[in-house]
Amino acid sequence: MPGFELIGQEERDALNALMDEGGVFFAHGFDAKRKRFHVREFEADFCAYLGCGDALCVSSGTAAIKVALKAIGVGFGDEVITQSFNFIADVEAIIDCGATPVIAGSDDTLNMDPAQLEALITPKTKAILPVHMLGVPARLDEILEIAKRHGIPVVEDACEAVGAKYNGQFCGTLGQAGVFSFDYGKAITTGEGGLVILNDTDIAVKARQYHDHGHINLPGVGRGLDRAGMTGFNYRMSELNAVVGKVQLKKLDFITAESGKRYDALDQGITAAAYKKRAIPPQATPAFDTYIVEVNDAQIREHAIQKLGELGFGTKNLPDAMNWHCSVFWDHMGFDSRTPAQLETLALLERQVAIPVTLGKSVEDFAALATALNELSV
Ligand SMILES: Cc1ncc(COP(=O)(O)O)c(C=O)c1O
Repeated sequence: MPGFELIGQEERDALNALMDEGGVFFAHGFDAKRKRFHVREFEADFCAYLGCGDALCVSSGTAAIKVALKAIGVGFGDEVITQSFNFIADVEAIIDCGATPVIAGSDDTLNMDPAQLEALITPKTKAILPVHMLGVPARLDEILEIAKRHGIPVVEDACEAVGAKYNGQFCGTLGQAGVFSFDYGKAITTGEGGLVILNDTDIAVKARQYHDHGHINLPGVGRGLDRAGMTGFNYRMSELNAVVGKVQLKKLDFITAESGKRYDALDQGITAAAYKKRAIPPQATPAFDTYIVEVNDAQIREHAIQKLGELGFGTKNLPDAMNWHCSVFWDHMGFDSRTPAQLETLALLERQVAIPVTLGKSVEDFAALATALNELSV
């Protein structure tokens, strides 16, 4: 369930309060004019929610991936392993760092197949970037174990898994770094925005510098006299985004709980043999924002997609936005996008139907949808 469905008076009040406090939209400086530092507060609130030690707000989820990779030191000649079922941003960020994306296929969770990961590791592998697609965690125990054995840092892309857990710990907090997106379609939104979870002191220092033109923020020194620790860029978040983010974060428990009820209605209600449910690792609690079934009978799949349209649910990315979510379609980016593993993932994805879980439909609506889908297969 996307956070935009719950934007209301609280977000409006927070924006007005920012104006009343002096209207400083910038995250740094202007101390005489401002009362608070909302970006820094949002980072602290998010850390407290996730139970982690350090986080950095940035301008988007895509920026968050780039900042994490840059902070790890990913650059020309390096390889970063990610997965075929993905959002294009991950591969864009790798390429923007000057590195080469190396793509693993999907397992039955539709996420990175740990069995393929190890074979893709080379002396050039600088980072591993598993992506928890559409709310379901990847098999992290296996991925983290392989990464640890090879001494390679893991950046978890949890942009689509805000609120999901693995072994009782929030996704995004288990690797050396983790990234979230707060774009308009995500579980909580700041319009545009992102956040990097920083579990390593050295990565944290570099991430802060890189996202802000290299600023080292010398204590007691104004920004004008500050020095740069590295070549950076501007991926800062604004105070406008942060005040909205703080309000949205307070709604996340409600979003997860309400999504869970609708997800359960589908999970319990879809019983026909035509539908194979997505595998959820036993250690995982999904974010419940999407429900995916594999439908091997092409005619039933077509009818199911049609029914989802008729009943006003639609589909979420599978099959309607495959071009942006499967690496096979990204041959414009100059990497090998048609390996057997990626083609196999494409074939797997073509059999899936992803149902968006929204607040706009009631639990009863979702139960009725399950019944309607069952009826298609008799
Ligand atoms: C898995 C994944 N990674 C990264 C991103 C990029 O996030 P943003 O849109 O905030 O740049 C998205 C956004 O759709 C995503 O779904």
